Amino acid sequence: MRNICVIGTGYVGLVTGAGLADFGNEVICADIDQTKIDVLKKGEIPIYEAGLKELVDRNVHAGRLSFSSDIESAIRKSSVIFIAVGTPIGEGGDADLSAVKSVAQTIARNLNTYKVICTKSTVPVGTGSQLRVIIDSERKTDHNFDIVSNPEFLREGSAVRDFLIPDRVVLGVNSGKSESIMREVYRPLFINKTPMVITNIPTAEMIKYASNAFLAVKISFINEMANLADKVGADVHSIAHAMGLDGRISSKFLHPGPGFGGSCFPKDTEALVQTGLKHDVKFQVVQAAINANTFQRQIILAKVKELLPALDGKHIAVLGLAFKANTDDVRDTPAVDIIRGLLAENALVKAYDPVASKNMIKYYFPDLDCRPTVSEAVKGADLVLVLTEWNELRGLNLKDLKGLLKSPNIVDARNILSIDDLKKYGFNYRNVGRSTV
Ligand code: UGA
Repeated sequence: MRNICVIGTGYVGLVTGAGLADFGNEVICADIDQTKIDVLKKGEIPIYEAGLKELVDRNVHAGRLSFSSDIESAIRKSSVIFIAVGTPIGEGGDADLSAVKSVAQTIARNLNTYKVICTKSTVPVGTGSQLRVIIDSERKTDHNFDIVSNPEFLREGSAVRDFLIPDRVVLGVNSGKSESIMREVYRPLFINKTPMVITNIPTAEMIKYASNAFLAVKISFINEMANLADKVGADVHSIAHAMGLDGRISSKFLHPGPGFGGSCFPKDTEALVQTGLKHDVKFQVVQAAINANTFQRQIILAKVKELLPALDGKHIAVLGLAFKANTDDVRDTPAVDIIRGLLAENALVKAYDPVASKNMIKYYFPDLDCRPTVSEAVKGADLVLVLTEWNELRGLNLKDLKGLLKSPNIVDARNILSIDDLKKYGFNYRNVGRSTV
């Protein structure tokens, strides 16, 4: 077991820190944001992530997990440093590595023993080598270090489970010493025979982008199938189901909808295309998935207009703002472009989301009329637009809903409402790839 410091307490850093503590390591989660650290020290969790509070509490009480804004001291006390700071989309679609590089400089100044420096943030291939150069040139001592790439595969909403019971762990290493230290860090997973892919650093860095880009391609692929299914009277769910029965395809990530969003797929697909260009490699398939994803948001708007051709002054109830269920994250959520499209045509938008309204107002629409309940958002509406697959929305009582609306129009952009019930209660409805079922 090791003394570890995780720098960056976003959802990746916090889940990683708490998870590594659960594996028996001594972990300091460090962040320059004093407010975040104060919140964590009070036992509160700054993000909405299922099971995270329990995991954090358990490990804080066991004395294995602590929080600090003194990053330099946290680095000096640790033999393994995980870098989990943000890599937002930068100019021209590249990943912006400024936070990662600045952490590397801080590590260089505090290299008081041999350390393993491990990138957890999603960083483009070649970043490991860049970090080695930065730390090598800026360290003030002779102490040695190794770089490791250990990409995360955490889905928001199930990140805790994904960390504790992963499908695989990827370790990009360049020395036997760093490999054996990482084996110690992840000892419980080695013991329970979790598949481990131990490879070199560029390969590990690429595995992360390859995985996210492939999933993004799958989503855009099924969305295009859904768009055709809509025109020809086919059912995309049966298509996806039958495709998925072929083990070579797998049924996962073949659910159609308003397109992928969030902090990962949009940014990582763009960054991969940019990395390719730098090396004279065209990622035509990934670029097509990005284009199709942008267009999918227009498809949803077009469905609204099929039911309500003139939006001026019409009350549209938007149910669901988060980019997917079980998160309050609204980064690159399809709801942003779709709401912009509705507002551009002077629709009156009233929105509801169980947890994401605050973020939507804070980051995108300061004046968005968000209501605390579904009923308040839909009362008197001309059309209901479902954008996130929250369980609460799956369970909507359509009979009661109809009673609240001015006109019984619904666009179900996540295919979560019962078509039988929509028909039974006389709704005019559209969904994605099943309209004619
Ligand atoms: C994604 C990956 O799934 C994680 O493995 C990865 O670690 C993470 O990015 C990351 O790079 O940090 P996440 O963005 O949390 O995780 O969400 P997903 O569950 O993958 O969903 C991404 C988007 O695709 C959402 O907008 C979701 O609604 C959409 N999606 C997903 C579909 O439209 N259809 C599907 O069948 C699946």
